[in-house]
Amino acid sequence: VKGGFETFMNKEIHDQPQAVADTLLGRVGEKGELILDEMRISETVMRSVDKIVVIACGTAAYAGHVAKYAIEHWCRIPVEVELAHEFRYRDPVVSEKTLVVAISQSGETMDTIMAVRHAREQGAKVLAIVNTHGSTIARESDAVLYTHAGPEVAVASTKAFLAQITACYLLGLYLAQLRGNKFPDEIAEDLEELRLMPERIQQVVDTEGHVQAVARELAEERTVLFLGRHVGFPVALEGALKLKELAYIHAEGFAAGELKHGPIALVEPGQPVFVIAPSPRGRDALHAKVISNIQEIRARGARTLVIAEEGDDAVEPFADVVFRVPQTPTLLAPLVTVVPLQIFAAALATAKGLDVDQPRNLAKSVTVE
Ligand code: F6R
Repeated sequence: VKGGFETFMNKEIHDQPQAVADTLLGRVGEKGELILDEMRISETVMRSVDKIVVIACGTAAYAGHVAKYAIEHWCRIPVEVELAHEFRYRDPVVSEKTLVVAISQSGETMDTIMAVRHAREQGAKVLAIVNTHGSTIARESDAVLYTHAGPEVAVASTKAFLAQITACYLLGLYLAQLRGNKFPDEIAEDLEELRLMPERIQQVVDTEGHVQAVARELAEERTVLFLGRHVGFPVALEGALKLKELAYIHAEGFAAGELKHGPIALVEPGQPVFVIAPSPRGRDALHAKVISNIQEIRARGARTLVIAEEGDDAVEPFADVVFRVPQTPTLLAPLVTVVPLQIFAAALATAKGLDVDQPRNLAKSVTVE
């Protein structure tokens, strides 16, 4: 069942290229349209959407956080990401023009189910991005886009996360096309980049030996910090969550720009800090800003573990360790940059002799509020 791997989590990390490929498979029609599994929302309604609210919990919410960067950039629709349990218990401003996107691997997370109901009662349309066929969230939503990650057994989510992000990209490109935010040839280019992602993810999975060796060296650490900017920010949050869940180590993810607003006070000599460096080929000053963040923490003695693109030499002088990922367009980068963090957390937990597939106190699907 574990396909020759020692743990389900290890297997599922290796399943990721396939999970992304399967989520893309058969999804794009001849006119470049997104093919949803169940669509009970008309194109007219989809065209009139003036706000998107993503509701989810845990890792699925981080997928939504990645979606925000992509969908706002591609479609010029404001996207809010809200933890389902917070959305549920306040008085959210939603209308018939709000598209609520509920993301859930299990489709049975009670917090998310309650939020879906709450949104629909107020007239919002709900599109579900779920992995489990026929699950409650799929049944109760107006439209469903299944992630085809296959069954995920390890309690901590890995391949479902990559499939969720992939589904969000598809949704973003679909909306951009429907609303005319992008020319068809631009959409075709983006889809081609997406099609290349499984291969790129595989290249990162193939570096696991290096990541595992570093994890073993850090097995005694008490705190690990994660920094990222732009789409690297949710990746930092996810890296920290994986480490907490699997290795029971205190870990925190920050937006790199927040450093000097407080968290830099935590940096003392020897403190391991992961930094997710954006592509140097990307827009704006994003890359330069992150390099200077790495310099800042290095100057205070941090042990810097940097995830950077192949060919990005600018990180070398300030990195104690570099984990390489293939060149990838900025918005799609989370699909590759999160992989070393998953491998790291699993390897560190293994080094501590912990049960990677069944961390203490956690359940695969949280069916109580
Ligand atoms: C983290 C993890 C949890 C889930 C969260 C939502 O590794 O597994 O944070 O992502 O409980 O679960 P689903 O996606 O089933 O709604």
